[in-house]
Amino acid sequence: MPLTRRHFLHHALAAGALPLLANRAEAVPPGWPESPFLEGNFFPVHEETTADDLKVTGTLPKELDGQFVRNGPNPQFAPTGNYHWFDGDGMLHAVRLRDGKASYRNRYVRTKGFEEEKKAGKALYSGLLDKPDLKKVAAGEYPFKNAANTSLTFHAGVLLAQWEGGEPHAVKAPSLDTVGAHTFGGKLKHAWSAHPKIDPETGEMIGFGYDIKPPYVSFSVVSAKGELLRTTPVELKRPTMMHDFALTANYLIFPEQPETFDLKRAIAGKMPWHFDPKLPTRFGLVPRTGKGETRWFTAEAGYFFHTLAAFEDGDAVLLYACRFARFPAELGFGDAVPDKTPNAPVLYRWRFDLKTGAVKEGAVDDVPTEFPRINESRLGRKVRYGYLGEAAGDLFDGYRKFDLEKGTAERHRLGAGRFGGEAVFVPHPDAKAEDAGWLLALVFDKAADKSELLVLDARDFGAKPVARVHLPGRVPYGFHATWVPGPALA
Ligand SMILES: [Fe+2]
Repeated sequence: MPLTRRHFLHHALAAGALPLLANRAEAVPPGWPESPFLEGNFFPVHEETTADDLKVTGTLPKELDGQFVRNGPNPQFAPTGNYHWFDGDGMLHAVRLRDGKASYRNRYVRTKGFEEEKKAGKALYSGLLDKPDLKKVAAGEYPFKNAANTSLTFHAGVLLAQWEGGEPHAVKAPSLDTVGAHTFGGKLKHAWSAHPKIDPETGEMIGFGYDIKPPYVSFSVVSAKGELLRTTPVELKRPTMMHDFALTANYLIFPEQPETFDLKRAIAGKMPWHFDPKLPTRFGLVPRTGKGETRWFTAEAGYFFHTLAAFEDGDAVLLYACRFARFPAELGFGDAVPDKTPNAPVLYRWRFDLKTGAVKEGAVDDVPTEFPRINESRLGRKVRYGYLGEAAGDLFDGYRKFDLEKGTAERHRLGAGRFGGEAVFVPHPDAKAEDAGWLLALVFDKAADKSELLVLDARDFGAKPVARVHLPGRVPYGFHATWVPGPALA
């Protein structure tokens, strides 16, 4: 199914991603296919740059010591066919902050596919919107390039550039040099999603992968030292597209949402992924001890890419995520027909009653938001604040600090012609309060045709930024970011 501008008009946020450039058509450079994700600041940059002593408006707090790194798709060569935003080669953009100064660098993640195409001098792999290479399928190989373009997780001294359909790639920080595919010494036997979780108390990292064959989901527990300890299947009823999951002190929460895969549909020449609103969403709560049965809870059909937080509250488990009413067909993965019913993601809460098995659910906000983050030093435990990209228009033009206790929000507006990416919360080193720290995000300024790193005081959210770090060029819109603390960069 070709992806055209038409598919995007009047639709809100895409997969964990920024929404769309309705009414802002810009030319795609010659030699590149038409795609809304090659227009304007979606178009890749091809230079790898290093720049020190960047100009700063405002003052960088001395306590901000570390490296902000963001991943995103940045095709090295013009695609062979149609272009989907998820196809582009991963490029990392990083801002190192130390002693009130800032430096920048951007580097490709040098995956196997990247190197093959670099050697060939052209694109070799087809993208998600084109017919896959049947020779590769027949040989049992995944037909798409592992682009390592989606997210980043820093664990056990290793920065992982993650995708969804294959293994993560290890990258060095702060250099951003690629080490290579990271299989935990050959122990990783499943795909590795873009959103593993690190338990702040145990230091363990838990990552999962999903498959169209049973077991449809498996997860692995990685020790604080980076050793893959064990892999466990999760018994789902059917294959489902699962981009994220959640962790509490005692449970892992896996969502079986009704965006399902059906090979019969592929054989009939249809898209194999399909949103079926007649099916429920099921949540499997897996005890983290490894002992005891998975408990399943049934909720309304819907779809979310990203969870904000989950934690236990007496006899209940609470889960928050940015939920669409249905899978966003605009992504080109399913055959759900876009209609006039609003389908923007809003912050939504499920309450799973462990005693009765009942589920209470509903939206807690009515403003479209995505890329939800929290103070991850409290991941899995009760949190009060969520930080989200807010889309009052077509792109993220502000941020939202949502108070889960009060159900209220504070806003930070970016100003005309300025659009932001995922914001990461960095705690103050001496923090006692949950929101004592800063929110860091890359912002593109259309008039300047350049990007900057925005630093907000999370406790004075609506105020003008604490600092704006002016980058030497533009950073194309992308996906997820992380923070690598300074002591780990020594
Ligand atoms: Fe994501």
